[in-house]
Amino acid sequence: MADVRPVTMERITTESLAQAFIDEQVAALRKQIGNGKVLLALSGGVDSSVVAALLIKAVGDQLTCVHVNHGLLRKGEPEQVIEVFRNQMKANLVYVDAVDRFLDKLAGVSDPEEKRKIIGAEFIRVFEEEARKLDGIRFLGQGTIYPDILESDGVKAHHNVGGLPEDLHFELVEPVKFLYKDEVRVVGKALGLPDNMVYRQPFPGPGLGVRCVGAITRDRLEAVRESDAILREEFAASGLQGKVWQYFTIVPDIKSTGIKDNKRTWDWPVVIRAVNSVDATAATIEEVPYALLGKITNRILAEVKGVNRVLYDLSPKPVATIEWE
Ligand code: XMP
Repeated sequence: MADVRPVTMERITTESLAQAFIDEQVAALRKQIGNGKVLLALSGGVDSSVVAALLIKAVGDQLTCVHVNHGLLRKGEPEQVIEVFRNQMKANLVYVDAVDRFLDKLAGVSDPEEKRKIIGAEFIRVFEEEARKLDGIRFLGQGTIYPDILESDGVKAHHNVGGLPEDLHFELVEPVKFLYKDEVRVVGKALGLPDNMVYRQPFPGPGLGVRCVGAITRDRLEAVRESDAILREEFAASGLQGKVWQYFTIVPDIKSTGIKDNKRTWDWPVVIRAVNSVDATAATIEEVPYALLGKITNRILAEVKGVNRVLYDLSPKPVATIEWE
């Protein structure tokens, strides 16, 4: 049906093509939405951020963005969403601190698929509650992009709010549904979004939850978040940001012996993973310079609580997957 990219649509590769796309979409959004109200789940990822920025431009305060902090976001992400969208772009932004809710639901759950199901279902529940608090919403903005349509019938796994109950029937607003990821980034840049939002590496919907392997505990999750922040900082400082496809840390639920201040410790290892890929179906290992690995290791061992060992995962996909769960 209509969900096929028009053959005449030019690939958006430049700022001026992006500006033309933005003008066209702003007009189309105004036509579709009229004086109606729109709701958008804003994760802070590039797709939903670009949709938010387009909607702010088109319909301003007819838009309400909901940012759900499920406690599995990277360090600084919720703060950046608030800064960019509420403070700078003056959007109506509902920030939902659902950290305890998610972590309580996940307590003791070690099966990876069960963890994903809980995170997905709880996200829908939180979003539904917020939607019910708002009156007169007719439209639902979604960051669907063209690969989502090609690969999975338009169902976006990581911010799919398609599971909302029957009585919350919204008309969908999907302004970037015919764009490929690289085009979304060009449009995001033209919309003035910050580089670290526009050029973000892929990040799974269940977030750091799949990198805190096994049953999630708050202290081990903090070790994932803090080590990930150090890795990203050091990759950025060495010019690897934007060059390596995906890089992150994992903290498995195992302990080993170490020694600190002349005392034995019984702590977790942090695993570093840095891979290159085109479409995530296969991945090769980034040859990170040894000196950089050493620097990151020393920082993690000095700064991250509960960690006494750092490892580098050399396994390509296949045989391994990119994430550990
Ligand atoms: P794997 O681990 O399967 O990952 O090699 C391939 C790519 O998909 C991402 N990934 C996910 N993305 N929800 C998502 O939105 C998920 O549950 C999920 N699991 C993995 C992963 O980060 C990698 O880029």
